[in-house]
Amino acid sequence: MTTASLSLDGKNYELPVITGSEGEVGIDIGKLRGASGAITLDPAFTSTGACTSAITFIDGDKGILRYRGYPIEQLAEKSDFIEVAWLLLYGELPTPEQLAKFRAQLTYHSMIHEDMKKFFEGFPNNAHPMAILSAMVASLSTYYPETETEENPDENIVRLIAKVRTLATYAYKKSIGQPMTYPQNKLRYCENFLHMMFAVPCEEYKANPVMVKALNMLLILHADHEQNCSTSTVRMVGSSRANIFASISAGICALWGPLHGGANQAVLEMLEMIQKDGGDYNKWVMKAKDKDDSFRLMGFGHRVYKNFDPRATILRKMSDEVLKELGINDPLLEIAKNLEKVALEDEYFVSRKLYPNVDFYSGILYRAMGIPTNMFTVMFSIGRLPGWLAHWKELRDEDSRIYRPRQIYTGATERDFVPMEARG
Ligand code: CMC
Repeated sequence: MTTASLSLDGKNYELPVITGSEGEVGIDIGKLRGASGAITLDPAFTSTGACTSAITFIDGDKGILRYRGYPIEQLAEKSDFIEVAWLLLYGELPTPEQLAKFRAQLTYHSMIHEDMKKFFEGFPNNAHPMAILSAMVASLSTYYPETETEENPDENIVRLIAKVRTLATYAYKKSIGQPMTYPQNKLRYCENFLHMMFAVPCEEYKANPVMVKALNMLLILHADHEQNCSTSTVRMVGSSRANIFASISAGICALWGPLHGGANQAVLEMLEMIQKDGGDYNKWVMKAKDKDDSFRLMGFGHRVYKNFDPRATILRKMSDEVLKELGINDPLLEIAKNLEKVALEDEYFVSRKLYPNVDFYSGILYRAMGIPTNMFTVMFSIGRLPGWLAHWKELRDEDSRIYRPRQIYTGATERDFVPMEARG
């Protein structure tokens, strides 16, 4: 076995080295504290692996993203979201029988308990749909406690994938004061989502096939991204053996932040702001470079991708096609392209390897599909759900220990309590 040597206070420690199937190297420090009393410190986890995982491979320098070995470009072009969800969960592409059974189960579980509709009534009309979604997903645990059986250990996984789009569209309908639309059993996953989102009781609704294709692709591109902030959160919460609904609800909350999934909403708000301000994108690039200005170009930069984000490349091409097919001429797309051009040639962005990420173009597409801006991160959640579930399942199946990082304490050293009368 290969080892790495660490020398500390004149003592030498041999640490096992683990190599992944793509040649990634990790130094296993699990026993370091027991042997030396010391820990390693890496607050934002830049060089720290929290687990081994067989789900998704990313090579950020080369712009590679693969789910279970399959390149994202091939999956985005040739697969559909539910097939990809199965692949992430079970490691292989499904057979026709497996896929048909999975689709049937998703249809069977697509409704939510009627009593849950009352929960929606309690939220104010302007409530952010991410708040509603995380609360509703956690609430599912009150309807389905401990129902997993040995014959069907993944029933709650199916329930979550099936119900999340129903919960998401109910939240939207509530926010615009329309009655909720029930799922239709004859429709497949993405079509059913569009139906629940846009159908109104007085009219026939038929989803545009261009929108169905675009939605499938968008959800596939978001379906997993290894140990990002929200997935690590799901694993962290799941490691305490909290139930699956609580674990996923925590992941939804982590995704909400503008540095993570909330960036897609922030990108569109930024483009609208630049448009309102007269469209001078050079001014905003200058602001993003100014260290005294907190403004950042939303949709730019990534912790892992240092060359290009393969998802952004696919989306950039797709947004051109979809907008053309839907006959939409969106001035925000022009602003986005100009901003991208300026930033890609600017020394500040080039030297820091800041490129457009997946969120830079997804908002333009969602907008073209008629999805309101505050629902963008909800769309990301629906897409990321199979990935979160695959990681939760991987954790469950390996019977992991509870996650418990250490810290280096930097606070006051021991001191005696001072009575109130002696203070001030
Ligand atoms: N605009 C301007 N400067 C930036 C940006 C940006 N969008 N992103 C990073 N920088 C600068 C940053 O100021 C720092 O400069 P310096 O070295 O001079 O201090 C340098 O680039 C490195 O940035 P960092 O914040 O240390 O990098 P990070 O790996 O911790 O953060 C990030 C990654 C994605 C949070 C960050 O690039 C960012 O805030 N981007 C905008 C938000 C965004 O688009 N997030 C979506 C990420 S993709 C979807 C997902 O997977 O969640």
